[in-house]
Amino acid sequence: MLPYHAQTMHSYFSVRNSSHFMDWEHQPNQFKIYPEELQRIKLEPQNPHHQFLSLIGGITAQKSYPGVTYALRTNPSAGALYPTEVYIQIRSVEGFEDAIYHLCPYESALVLLYALKQDEGIECYLHSQKINGFIFLFSALYYRSSWKYRDRAFRYCLHDTGHMLGTVEASCFVYKKKYRICYDIDKKALNKLFHFGTEEFFLSSVIVGSEIDETCDAALMQVPYVDGTGVFEANNLIEKTYLSTCELSLEKQIIMPSFRLDDTRFKHAIWKRRSIREFSQKSLSKEEFEQVMDFINEPIPSDCDVKIDIYAIINRVEGMWQGVYKEGVYLQSSNFARKAGYLCLEQALGAQSGVTFFLVGNDDKNYQAMVQKAGIIGHRLYLISEYLGFGCSGIGAYYDEEVAEFLASDGMVLYALAIGR
Ligand SMILES: Cc1cc2nc3c(=O)[nH]c(=O)nc-3n(C[C@H](O)[C@H](O)[C@H](O)COP(=O)(O)O)c2cc1C
Repeated sequence: MLPYHAQTMHSYFSVRNSSHFMDWEHQPNQFKIYPEELQRIKLEPQNPHHQFLSLIGGITAQKSYPGVTYALRTNPSAGALYPTEVYIQIRSVEGFEDAIYHLCPYESALVLLYALKQDEGIECYLHSQKINGFIFLFSALYYRSSWKYRDRAFRYCLHDTGHMLGTVEASCFVYKKKYRICYDIDKKALNKLFHFGTEEFFLSSVIVGSEIDETCDAALMQVPYVDGTGVFEANNLIEKTYLSTCELSLEKQIIMPSFRLDDTRFKHAIWKRRSIREFSQKSLSKEEFEQVMDFINEPIPSDCDVKIDIYAIINRVEGMWQGVYKEGVYLQSSNFARKAGYLCLEQALGAQSGVTFFLVGNDDKNYQAMVQKAGIIGHRLYLISEYLGFGCSGIGAYYDEEVAEFLASDGMVLYALAIGR
């Protein structure tokens, strides 16, 4: 097990003995805003390319609590803290200057960071030939999350970035585009190129375009430094773990998923997606459960595909026994609803769901890719639930060791999610 993962486990004891308090006076900024002198392209609802981009982390609702307003987005985020930032290189796409942009959800705009010169680009950092189309780069401003979740926040940055990769996948389905995820990017060089301080680092990218048989030179851009949180406090464990997990040992997956869904209805689900806060405890049907499983098990094209075990604790599915279910087989059958709720740090969501999922992996060498993949599967769970008319919530807080023991697994518990009505 990766030492970082072991060091950031929750236990019944650790949760009750944490002395952590939240410094509400110094909450990090939720948006990174580049200087106003830089040119903006406002994303317009009538333009299909703009719509394609709006579905990638765009704002879809507002939620207010005394003193704070959260802008909710197409992606869920642990604690609604949104550590992930999106940068895009666009080449040879009608209506756009060939350039590198920042996608700013707050302004619903692309901010032009650097206009590409002839034969320049970021392709060499992705070990790729020239790409006509979009290259998305995803970074994490980790203090947005470590402000609340401390050392465990690196996990949340990876989940959240996985969800963002999931938003690209979903938008590609709606706009009929092919995509492939690249985790094997020269992250350290890109961090430098984009003038990041240690508070921000790249985690992955997605190519949505066609590779042409030409090379290009590394873009030599000058981008202003922008403080993306306003109140950064360094976390040594997170920075050290990031650096020590950047290298990957790769296993490619080239098959595209084939989702058999109605794209208009799916687009509606992307816009409407929210985290469910409470289940009415009505059952799902067996057919619905099977549709969910078919959808989440479709391949995810990437340069580093890691095996993730999906354990489903069946609580309320008509026509199915209750119990622990994995790859079509019951490992144990009994009513484990209360147990599932307890394991999710006593959150009712885990107990009152139709199904509570635990995603488990065991690949230390590909930790960054593995946890992001758990986020993509989580995103698929959200979208298929919304599409089929019920709800979903990510659950990042669970008693790690007790979950593993319950599942009789020696892997790392990566993520929990609950679905139901
Ligand atoms: C990685 C991750 C972990 C989460 N963990 C929890 C959790 O433990 N409990 C919970 O009620 N919600 C959890 N959520 C849901 C977030 O609170 C929710 O996404 C956020 O408030 C934004 O709301 P929205 O998803 O409705 O847009 C989690 C979401 C993510 C992506």
